[in-house]
Amino acid sequence: MSCILVTGGAGFIGSAVCRLISSDDNHSVVVVDKLTYAGSTSSLEPVAGNANFTFIRDDIGNRPAMSNILQEHQPDVIMNLAAESHVDRSIDGPSEFINTNIVGTFSLLEASRDYFEQLPDDRKERFRFHHISTDEVFGQLPLEGGKFTEETAYAPSSPYSASKAASDHLVMAWHHTYGLPIVLSNCSNNYGPYHFPEKLIPLVILNAVHEKELPVYGTGANVRDWLYVDDHARALVEIALRGRTGQSYNVGGDAERTNLQVVEGICSILDRLKPRKGNKSYRDLITFVADRPGHDLRYAIDASKITGELGWRPLETFESGLEKTIDWYLENKSWWQPIRENNYRGQRLGSLEKV
Ligand code: NAD
Ligand code: DAU
Repeated sequence: MSCILVTGGAGFIGSAVCRLISSDDNHSVVVVDKLTYAGSTSSLEPVAGNANFTFIRDDIGNRPAMSNILQEHQPDVIMNLAAESHVDRSIDGPSEFINTNIVGTFSLLEASRDYFEQLPDDRKERFRFHHISTDEVFGQLPLEGGKFTEETAYAPSSPYSASKAASDHLVMAWHHTYGLPIVLSNCSNNYGPYHFPEKLIPLVILNAVHEKELPVYGTGANVRDWLYVDDHARALVEIALRGRTGQSYNVGGDAERTNLQVVEGICSILDRLKPRKGNKSYRDLITFVADRPGHDLRYAIDASKITGELGWRPLETFESGLEKTIDWYLENKSWWQPIRENNYRGQRLGSLEKV
């Protein structure tokens, strides 16, 4: 049995990783999560009672605590998903992004290095530090042509992506300098169940259900490359267990859509699954609002390295994944209602305009 320590396991992607790993009796899972506004233990309810699952509330930046946790649980793999993840919040207040994404990752690397160095040789062979990152570190692509590969130069635009780029560089430096066995992955936009409703897809689903405006930044022409979260979780486990140390892997769903296409797609599915009164379409709620400052135009991932080396490919198309996601939100009000009432009510974030 191998022990996998997942930081940020109460978040959107981390909880999907935990639900996947904990279903396998060959692994045990230890989550370390600070439970910020974005973390929710209810996302871990499906696995919380499993014998192979442990939850610890702590901060990756708390080095003594992290060292104790590593000594006590003796993980074979650390998957670092703990982060501040929302671009708009990084525009309003970058300091938590610097604290967690950069300083927190540095601190976790140091605790991991101490832990790694005292492992016996056979366990050193198996040990991996997997840092989970984003395609946003590469900056933006033009509307026509080109995809991000593992060789694309870093050119982050937002405080969020700059903080993630810094953490990627630290992780690579800890490998080159100290020999820490790391793997790194850079993924495109995820969507799916348990997604915090500040992000475009869940925000639009819940605003539509509440008959509120569906805010589209600028003209809606910006392009994102969408991946269903369970497909990402499978990719992450493959990379953590079988990726080559010192390597980075790009992960993406080959599903580029403009933001307007995404929002209109959600409206079409909702028109069918939950028709509005008076035969109106949810499209009538679409509202074009002020653009995000520094809004990257287009992201697109070339995932041929992970497909070729590890045989991973997505199982969902954007259409099948979007329908599953909308179904899930319609059926899981008990998950999102407390969040909409207490943590985030759907207000605009990251606009520098004074209102
Ligand atoms: P999320 O915001 O849903 O979850 C982040 C989790 O980290 C939360 O549970 C939060 O409580 C926890 N956390 C925050 N600060 C912490 C700290 N200092 N110590 C311990 N825990 C802390 O984020 P997500 O969307 O699940 O993203 C997870 C990771 O994947 C991030 O590193 C993000 O950069 C990366 N990523 C996300 C996407 C995406 O589309 N969501 C795509 C590519 C990469
Ligand atoms: O590319 C990977 C990244 O994807 C991850 O690293 C981030 O953690 C994740 O949050 C996501 O970043 P984005 O900024 O792309 O996601 P968001 O859902 O905030 O926005 C998606 C697109 O939709 C983006 O072009 C901005 C636009 N948008 C967003 C919101 C919240 C709108 O048009 N209206 C909105 O209300």
